[in-house]
Amino acid sequence: VAKRKEDRALERNDDLGYPIFVAQNVREELLAFLRMRGRPSAILCDANRHVRAVADEIAQAAGDVPVLRFTLGESRKRLATVERVLDAMVGAGVERNSLVLGIGGGVASDLFGFACAVYMRGVRYAHVATSLVAMVDAAIGGKTGVDLREGKNLAGCFRDPIAVFCEVDALETLPAEAFREGLAEIVKAAIIEGGDLFDLLEELAPHPVRQWPWLEVLPAAIKVKTMAVADDRLEVGARATLNLGHTFAHAIERASNYSVTHGKAVALGLRAAGLLALRTGRFRREEHLRVLTLLTLVGLPLQTSLAPAAIFAAMRSDKKKSGGRLRFVLPRAIGDVEYGVECADRTVRAVLERMAHPPENVRARR
Ligand SMILES: NC(=O)c1ccc[n+]([C@@H]2O[C@H](COP(=O)([O-])OP(=O)(O)OC[C@H]3O[C@@H](n4cnc5c(N)ncnc54)[C@H](O)[C@@H]3O)[C@@H](O)[C@H]2O)c1
Repeated sequence: VAKRKEDRALERNDDLGYPIFVAQNVREELLAFLRMRGRPSAILCDANRHVRAVADEIAQAAGDVPVLRFTLGESRKRLATVERVLDAMVGAGVERNSLVLGIGGGVASDLFGFACAVYMRGVRYAHVATSLVAMVDAAIGGKTGVDLREGKNLAGCFRDPIAVFCEVDALETLPAEAFREGLAEIVKAAIIEGGDLFDLLEELAPHPVRQWPWLEVLPAAIKVKTMAVADDRLEVGARATLNLGHTFAHAIERASNYSVTHGKAVALGLRAAGLLALRTGRFRREEHLRVLTLLTLVGLPLQTSLAPAAIFAAMRSDKKKSGGRLRFVLPRAIGDVEYGVECADRTVRAVLERMAHPPENVRARR
């Protein structure tokens, strides 16, 4: 893949009132930012060795800031870990007016962001995103929180960071599985946005993802999220478009007892949303096939062996809990999605039946 726009070393997005920087290496901007906003009192980081290495370098460059490490992972995205983080912050002497820097993937941004939102009723927080999911999704938009025994992200709050730094170099060490998790959200963003972003992904899809021009892809994907969030901070309207594929995805995750990861479930959800849009006369088959081809080329699944009835039951019980009706975000075209769509149960069930079979006419070119 030709490295394009190599001269573009830094991208900055201010749509949400705080800067989101994307650079190959963000140290220069980060240090300049800290010079302006104050030396952090502590760095909170995922104890993963690659993330730690990034944190140690930054800590040193920022003037020997104490680094507090925590073993994370989804199973530790819990209140018990938040308490450990809060205790460690007290130990490091973090005060009400301190600035705290967090470093890591989506689990880190959710959990550290939440800890900093409640520590002494809130301290300023900036995040250095090291995973693709954190860069394009988790660290942006101000949703922080942790899981409860009953389900994911059930405890949390809205709280914006004061800045987000996306370090493209960090992606080099990111495991392939974690990479794919982020790709699902990027394909989703491209369906919402259409145009240049979708064309770019189609062009890049046959090439290994580590060779993609991330300095170009990341800012475009981030823009889709910031634009949707900017108009709808508390998720009462248009932010819902970001849930494209997610009504199905959440049900698939739950029906599989979380053995299907979120990214894979989103890919399956995107196919299901496309099928539902086809069946309700909204979407064109050629465009549906373009989406499926893209998902396949980046290594995401399109078919599930889960029982359709189990997925449907998970969808229903989710909705019963929230007392609402099943509503979908469906594509009308690549670049045009509609939210709040209600569909007949039998149509949804028919879509789920299809999900047990591979799609026709989709060829993986790789
Ligand atoms: N708040 C939101 O709006 C939002 C949106 C999307 C996802 N999320 C949350 O994000 C989480 C998933 O994020 P994730 O996929 O980043 O998970 P993660 O933070 O667990 O990171 C995935 C794995 O990669 C490792 N890792 C991170 N950066 C690395 C690097 N540069 N090199 C090598 N390894 C690295 C981590 O230690 C972990 O093992 C979920 O908990 C999800 O609920 C939140």
